[in-house]
Formats: sequence, C-alpha cells, structure tokens
Amino acid sequence: PPLAMEQQSVVGEELGSLHGIPLYKVFIEGWPQVKAFQARPDDLLISTYPKSGTTWLSEIMDMIYHDGDVEKCRRDAIYNRVPFLEVKVPRIPSGVEQLENTPSPRLVKTHLPVQLLPQSFWEKDCKIIYMARNPKDVVISYYYFYQMAKIHPDPGTLAEFLETFLTGKAAYGSWYDHVRGWWEKRKEKKILYLFYEDMKKNPRQEVKKILQFLGKEVAEETVERILHNTSFQAMKKNPAANYETMPTALMDHSCSPFLRKGICGDWKNHFTVAQNERFDQHYQEHMAGTDLHFQME
Ligand code: A3P
Repeated sequence: PPLAMEQQSVVGEELGSLHGIPLYKVFIEGWPQVKAFQARPDDLLISTYPKSGTTWLSEIMDMIYHDGDVEKCRRDAIYNRVPFLEVKVPRIPSGVEQLENTPSPRLVKTHLPVQLLPQSFWEKDCKIIYMARNPKDVVISYYYFYQMAKIHPDPGTLAEFLETFLTGKAAYGSWYDHVRGWWEKRKEKKILYLFYEDMKKNPRQEVKKILQFLGKEVAEETVERILHNTSFQAMKKNPAANYETMPTALMDHSCSPFLRKGICGDWKNHFTVAQNERFDQHYQEHMAGTDLHFQME
C-alpha cells in the first residue's frame, strides 16, 4: 500500500500498555529491539516527558556538538539529527535502526520513564540530560499535540484531557512518576536535570551548565550564535527544526503548529478557576514529600 495509506493505520488508534505505561501500540511492537538497544559510552541521552522542550534541547545539543555551525545543523531534520529511541511507525526507519546507522558521538532522544530505559545506558554509564517543564503548561501543549500528531487518540475536550493527564492515562503515563523518577535517579547517575522555565528565563546560564556538564569549552561568540539560533522565533522558521518536513498524514500543522507558543504560563489562557483548583490539589497530593519544585509561570 502507498505510504500515506499505511501511515493512516496509526491514526487515532487507542493507546496500548507497556509494562503499565500507556503507549502507542506501534511503539510497543518495536519494544524488543528498544529493550535490547546497545548504547555506546559516548552516547548522550536527552530525556523528557513529552512536550517539555525536547526539541529545543535537542537543537541546542546538536549546535553544541557542531560548535555553533548553523549550516551543519541544517543538514537534516531534528528528528534525524537526534533520533528518537523508541519511535516506530510503519515504513519509517525505527529509532533503533536510525541509531545503528548514526556515527558516534550520538545524541539520542527518549521519553521513556526511568524504569524502562534500556539497561545498556546504565551499563555504559552514558551522560543524560533530563528536561522537565511545569505540568500545567505540559498538559496544554500536549492537548494541542494530541490534535496535530495523528498517532494520538482523540483527546476529547480540554476538561476530559485534563483528567486523562492527571490520572496518568496520556501517552507515557504519569507526569509525576516521570519527573520524580528521573529526579531521584540523578542522585546516583550522571544526569543533568534542567527545567524549561529556567531555560526560558536565562538560556545563557543553562547552556553554560550544559557545557560544564559535557566538559566542553566554546568561545563566547559560539554561545551567542547557539542562543540566537535556538530561540523560539529562529526555530519556528527553521524547517530543519520545526517538524514541517514530517508527512502531513502524521503531523498536521494546520491544526496547531509544532512550535506553538513557546512560553511559560499559557495554561492561564486555558484553565478555568475550578480546573486550576482541582489541578493544584492533585499536584500537592502527588508531589508530597519531594524536594522537586516547579515554577508554574
Ligand atoms: P508549546 O506547545 O507550549 O508552544 P517537545 O519538543 O518536548 O515536544 O516540546 C514542545 C514544546 O516546546 C512546545 O510548547 C514548543 O513550542 C516548545 N518549544 C520548542 N522550541 C522552543 C524554543 N526554542 N523556545 C521555547 N519553547 C520551545
């Protein structure tokens, strides 16, 4: 069958369950290869809950890896420059296949919760950068993404999707478990834990943290160039960063662009007062006892 037709088969499908984590059924089919993935010691893993700034961090990392060379960073789309470990969609090379053909040092993207990360990353002691974003902005971003990325089931109304999200039924499961799981792991592993809100407020400082974590020194003008080219506006008009090259059957930017707003606090334009109160209460219950804190705007 033609590509577009085959890809239609993933459209709107209900999620399956991978070890208790809600996930796209097509990804679950590829799980044995992901589980057996062979990491290399110089792999750098970019880990996030969906809609937390993965693409932003990926672009920053690729620019750092290429010393701020803008042309080199346009060599391919971001989803090929930083392959998505667990991705599997009919007729598109799986993340594992892509990674096997990527020369070292590789950048690898994942949304897996910490307990499902393939063992090999721990064995090889790979460096990991985790980026977290406040859950109110995540759920709004995810709601639009559910509509534009056709692999998702129908999210229903925002009120319905808020419940789906809070009860851990959105793809990749509980946001709380995800951010908390990776937060705890950083105490024993080489994990740099970053926040979208910090990156927004002071990108220079966060990029410097990354450079320090990598043990890499770059000229001040290179940092400047990286910051300039990874701004929301620059990425939004960069076809290598904005996902416009994805087949429309998989992502429909006319529903909502991938680079949608890129701000902190957009939830205020969407939540009712009652929804916000419900969210705050749920958040307090599920974040009890952790020293992990979020800036909600
Ligand atoms: P919004 O939907 O709130 O705009 P991910 O890459 O993890 O899927 O995250 C996507 C979110 O990150 C989207 O949020 C997108 O706009 C935002 N984003 C992408 N690049 C960005 C940038 N350079 N600066 C700020 N936000 C960015």
